[in-house]
Amino acid sequence: GISLTGYLLPWSQLSFWATTVATNSVNAIPVVGSFLVEFLRGGKLVGPATLGRFFALHVAVIPIAIAALIGAHLFLLQRTGISTPPFGIKDSSNSWKGDAYRYEEHPGGIPFFPDYMLEDLRSIFICMACFLGMVFFAPNLLFPKTAFLPANPYLTPAHIKPEWYFLANYQTLKIFPSEIIGLSVQGAAMTFLALLPFIDRSKERHPLKRPIFTVCAIGGLLIWIGLTIWGHYS
Ligand code: HEM
Repeated sequence: GISLTGYLLPWSQLSFWATTVATNSVNAIPVVGSFLVEFLRGGKLVGPATLGRFFALHVAVIPIAIAALIGAHLFLLQRTGISTPPFGIKDSSNSWKGDAYRYEEHPGGIPFFPDYMLEDLRSIFICMACFLGMVFFAPNLLFPKTAFLPANPYLTPAHIKPEWYFLANYQTLKIFPSEIIGLSVQGAAMTFLALLPFIDRSKERHPLKRPIFTVCAIGGLLIWIGLTIWGHYS
């Protein structure tokens, strides 16, 4: 969501047409599809109203939702403690004991503050240094030439291909005869991934002793890489 809405903001040909294609696919949803497309775009076509909506989503609504999820994640981490590492220990069955962790002393434990927080800060500073280095010294490094063509609703580009991270989704849509099937398959795959921790409820932590999880993770990754390469050459 955050990348999709951000991608429209430079208002280039790439932005305009990627958003037109992406919002169009919502049309495939039966009954409410066309209403939803118009609601997302703020009109029949992508235009100034869409830019306003996507800007608000990108800089306010979605960041607040992400911050809330990060907060919930840290809260749960503090409350229940982390699970045991899967490698290098004899007994890899999860010996996680949330309540015991909360009430018992654990002299060997590493506190979140300041230890983990400093580690996180170090990673954040390294990322920021790389990011600012690129922004100040090589701002055009990752931009294709087409990124600088201003949006023009009257000029449809000859080939509309998404960025590399969306190629797998793009290829999936091309494989299936109808858009609604392609979208449903992707929705089902994402729902399955989200539900996997509830399907594979074994306490075991070692990947080789969790066949369902490991097969799904490696299989999913291979399918994604395969579809990305296929999408690139199709
Ligand atoms: C995880 C967080 C975020 C991600 C993944 C993200 C992603 C993106 C992407 C992919 C673009 C398109 C860039 C391009 O194609 O030139 C973009 C643009 C933009 N983003 Fe974000 N964004 C994030 C957070 C934010 C936040 C928090 C703000 C402001 C409060 C923000 C403000 C903007 C603005 C103003 C643009 C337009 C830049 C331009 O026109 O050159 N973004 N973002």
